[in-house]
Amino acid sequence: MTRIWKPNIWLMFMAMLTTQGFSQISLVPRPLELKETGSGNIFTIKAETPVILTSDKLLPSAEFLVQYVQQYYGVQLKTSKKPAKVNGVVLSIDPAAGGQGAYMLEVTASGVSIKGADETGVFYGVQSLLQLLPANKTTALDLPGVWVKDAPRFGYRGVMLDVGRHFFPVEFVKKFIDYLAIHKINTMHWHLTEDQGWRIEIKKHPQLTAKGAYRNGTIVGHYPGSENDNERYGGFYTQDQVKDIVAYAAKRYITVVPEIEMPGHASAAIAAFPNLSCFPNEPTNLGKLPSEVSKANPGKQVQETWGVHDDVFCAGNDSVYQLLEDVMDEVVPLFPSTLFHIGGDECPKANWKRCPRCQVRMKEHNLKDEHELQSYFVQRMEKYINSKGKILIGWDEILEGGLAPNAWVMSWRGEAGGIEAAKQNHDVIMSPTTYCYFDYYQGKSKTEPLAIGGYLPLNKVYSYNPFPDALTAEQAKHIKGIQANLWTEYVESPSKAEYMLMPRLAAIAEVAWSPQEGKSWEDFTRRMERLYDQYKLIGANYAKSAYEVRQTVIIESVNNKANVTFKTDAYNPDIRYTLDGSIPSANSLKYTKSFDVYRSAIIKAGVFKNGELKGNVSEQRIVLD
Ligand code: ACM
Ligand code: ZN
Repeated sequence: MTRIWKPNIWLMFMAMLTTQGFSQISLVPRPLELKETGSGNIFTIKAETPVILTSDKLLPSAEFLVQYVQQYYGVQLKTSKKPAKVNGVVLSIDPAAGGQGAYMLEVTASGVSIKGADETGVFYGVQSLLQLLPANKTTALDLPGVWVKDAPRFGYRGVMLDVGRHFFPVEFVKKFIDYLAIHKINTMHWHLTEDQGWRIEIKKHPQLTAKGAYRNGTIVGHYPGSENDNERYGGFYTQDQVKDIVAYAAKRYITVVPEIEMPGHASAAIAAFPNLSCFPNEPTNLGKLPSEVSKANPGKQVQETWGVHDDVFCAGNDSVYQLLEDVMDEVVPLFPSTLFHIGGDECPKANWKRCPRCQVRMKEHNLKDEHELQSYFVQRMEKYINSKGKILIGWDEILEGGLAPNAWVMSWRGEAGGIEAAKQNHDVIMSPTTYCYFDYYQGKSKTEPLAIGGYLPLNKVYSYNPFPDALTAEQAKHIKGIQANLWTEYVESPSKAEYMLMPRLAAIAEVAWSPQEGKSWEDFTRRMERLYDQYKLIGANYAKSAYEVRQTVIIESVNNKANVTFKTDAYNPDIRYTLDGSIPSANSLKYTKSFDVYRSAIIKAGVFKNGELKGNVSEQRIVLD
């Protein structure tokens, strides 16, 4: 792993080469080293080109390649386990390629060679190969001559999918996994339980899904909502479906980390089993807009609104621990992942403060406040998780009241939790809202579909460096990686999930994979132009927000003028604008540098490529005397 405080001059030199010389080649995430080897090394993949595997272990990589080329280019390749007479794509393992996940890729006139340090490395080599192919549908599969040596920066490169707020069908979860795979992401954190739905079958307790997987309605619009839609909503994954998804991910070298949330965000489990609450007889507070069905049936209900809710698991009731252990008994065997996520965030202490059982538990264990009670809860679960050979990971609130001895911390409320955990010698995944929350807006909220709030454009994600200055080099070794989170309160469909995910996924992937040295926003945007085409090729509903023109206007009242500057997150954009409020066309005024206006105007600006408007038109009104 390379670190920012030890600049590697060689890598910086290589990075300069890559940004200056290789306009035809656009790999995202940026590889460690890349050399273009010229027109004498072009190779064309044809239907007769064999994909040669030197080991059965490489079958998932070969199959991915064959399937992709078939699906998106209509060319059917064949795999072969023997060296062939015809030039082909040769997949092999070579420890000389580097450490875990490293690979070397070479395209010459006589074929393609992908040598992985391990199976995973071969898979990543294949992903890079797919990015060398034309990004449009064609059967002329010319590859440029190139030599690549590559390896990941972090061992944990994650994306979280929340299926609690909205449920996503198995087929989409697989598609989501494919999106992660083409970006060399290696972890999907699967947020499986929430206030608004319990999404995984537990055979011993079928009520968890029979009742907990369905809500009687959902608020409409942004919290607190305008009304309740009064539609029963839900779904869950059977254990067979979970196994199928985990196996699908494994073939793409993606580990699925399950999350069973506790002690907060537990309304769905409590709806199934009211005695898990401190106050089983108190009806669920569904906010101002409960559904008609819930109004007619006061009692414990699956949540219908968003936010943080007081009704959490009772920490003084042993049947809570028993149920959660039963759940672990069934969930742990489904997931090969060493990490097991227990949530741990946003657990209000109001109920625990007034709950006799919680208060007795605190006295028995000499706990001075409810934070220590939460720590008791998490530590108790950690013992159980550790006894099953797994490591507990939780959001940074698990630091409060004392961190469980072996826990990893996922830092989301900024980096402070991650810094504190690393100082305590605990491993950390950085996932601060400021850079990693893909439920935030990625363009102006006026022109974007409804999101939770915030503002996280592509350039902000890309700017993230997860090594805080507050840590020594030794402490920083505890930062094992980063993760983007797709919370889904306002992500109600697969196409919206794709929209929120891409292209920001590419930026987080590059931060997670590529070294800090040689990082270049301009070069990233250049390479993204090809990736956008690949998104189009594979039918991904990616956001065009990076093409939105951000307008900065500085009014100089004394001179009765306004200075206007445009910015986008696109490469070398052809920005066209009007001053009279009309929609710009490819022939409108071309923006070259900031300019002054001397009378009131309605500026409309957009980015054009090949005569076509990309993204939305932005608007700014200027009022001058
Ligand atoms: C979180 O966003 N509540 C982890
Ligand atoms: Zn209690």
